[in-house]
Order: sequence, then C-alpha cells, then structure tokens
Amino acid sequence: MDEELNNHGKITGKLWDGIHGGYFSNKDAAAPLVLTVLSRINPLSPPAAVADLGGGTGFILKEIAQQLNDPSIRLINIDMSGSQLSESRAGQILTIHCPIEAVKRETLLPQNGTLLFIMRSVLHYFGSGGIGGALSHIRQQMRPGECFIHQTACFETDSHAVLLNELFRITGLNKWFPSVNELNKILSANGFIQTLDKEVAALPVSSRDFAKRYDIDDKMLMEIGQKIKARYGEIPKVFETCGGEFTFYLHCRIFISEAV
Ligand SMILES: C[S@@+](CC[C@H](N)C(=O)[O-])C[C@H]1O[C@@H](n2cnc3c(N)ncnc32)[C@H](O)[C@@H]1O
Repeated sequence: MDEELNNHGKITGKLWDGIHGGYFSNKDAAAPLVLTVLSRINPLSPPAAVADLGGGTGFILKEIAQQLNDPSIRLINIDMSGSQLSESRAGQILTIHCPIEAVKRETLLPQNGTLLFIMRSVLHYFGSGGIGGALSHIRQQMRPGECFIHQTACFETDSHAVLLNELFRITGLNKWFPSVNELNKILSANGFIQTLDKEVAALPVSSRDFAKRYDIDDKMLMEIGQKIKARYGEIPKVFETCGGEFTFYLHCRIFISEAV
C-alpha cells in the first residue's frame, strides 16, 4: 500500500458505508450539515453549482438532491479516490476524479453563476503542512460573498487536539486535527470569515474500528493505547480505555466560511 492510500485507510468504495458504525451513510448524522446547506440555498436565486470537495461516495449530495429537488443545479462530487466515486454515480450527481488542490472554478461552472462549496470530514487529510495551501486554493476558486460550508474535525482545547495528533502520528498517519481556535485562524488567514460555527455530535472511533481501517495489528494497537494513556491519561469523550481497548472521539463543527 503506498503512503497516500495508507493515510486514507484500506476501506473505501463499497465498504465505505459500513465504516465507523455506518456514520458516513447515516441520515441522522448527516442531517445537521445537510440542513445547514439547504438553509443557505435560496430557491429564488439558487447557486449554479454545489460542489462537494472530497465527497466520497456522494452520500451528502444525494441527501441534498432529494430534499432540494431542483434539477437545474449542478451537483458535483470531487474526490481523488476512484473507488469512492464509483459508488457515487447517481441521477443528477456528476463526478470529477481529481485532487481538491487541482479543482478549477471554470471546470465546475462553464457559465456564469454562483458556486457553493461543501465538505465533510476532509480537511484533516491535508496534514498540518498542507491545510493552509488547500484552503488557499479553495478560496482562489471562489468569489467574494460565496460560501464554503464544511463539517470539520476540530477540538475545543489545544490539549485535546495534541492528544489526537499524537495518536495519529505514532500510528504513522499524516492526518492533522486543529483546535477550534487554530482552525479559525487558518481560515481567516486564507480569506474566509466565519458566519456560523456550530458544534455537532462527536464521532466515536473504537480501537477495533481504527485497526480495521488502517490495518493495524493487535500488538501495535495495544502499544498505541498504552502510550497515549501513559502520556495524557483518560479524558472522558476524548480518549477512553477499557481493558486493552480504547475509543477516541472525533469532535466536529459545522462552519459557514464566507469568501471575503
Ligand atoms: C472521511 S472521507 C469523507 C467522505 C464524504 N465527505 C462523507 O462525508 O461522506 C474523506 C474523503 O476525502 C477524500 N479526499 C481526501 N483528500 C483528498 C484530496 N486531497 N482531494 C480529493 N479528495 C480527497 C477521500 O478520498 C475520501 O473520500
């Protein structure tokens, strides 16, 4: 498995819907983001395109398509994984197989019109060194006043973010979770102003689930749990242990980031 695929985990495509207890294909879990997106679409002047950055199997766009019921809006799922996109082709939803860093406004909107970007659970894939560049690229595709609505993993306190980052680092994964404060600063530095910042339910990830997704053997899993517990102790609803097993919680927020 190359480094990039390893970072994404080995569960994609057909297997994706079952991951983390079905979280990514669960209507209730998706509802806060879907409702936030729908609340920003004025039926009298809808965007010409809604583009889901790292849209995976297209679950969020399918929910939006059902509730929006407006075939004139281009719904576009952009993802770098062909296996994820192979599950996404449905009705009104177009797919573009490319990295977010290569997406161009002109490809999404051949004619004039407004663009709405959405995203769920993707910014942490860019790592601490890549998140600024990715946000800057997204911003460059937007016009002032357009929105980027995203549900992003981030932690209330710096110390909780440090714990999660250490857990991923010792596992060999290049994912990075900011604190809410850090994320707000990075968004502002890249030309966004937040008009909404709302906490949603955290996603619990059991050590078994984590091991399955990233192919971690029992010995390594045990060592990861022990190291984190020795360094940070147990923090309810952030990192909890039970015997040799552990559960960490990915805290998330929905942001409406407007291009300034
Ligand atoms: C955790 S999944 C979330 C999928 C989807 N947004 C959802 O909530 O159901 C992250 C997705 O982002 C995609 N991804 C990660 N980094 C990417 C990048 N740089 N460019 C395009 N897609 C990316 C992955 O292939 C994966 O499908």
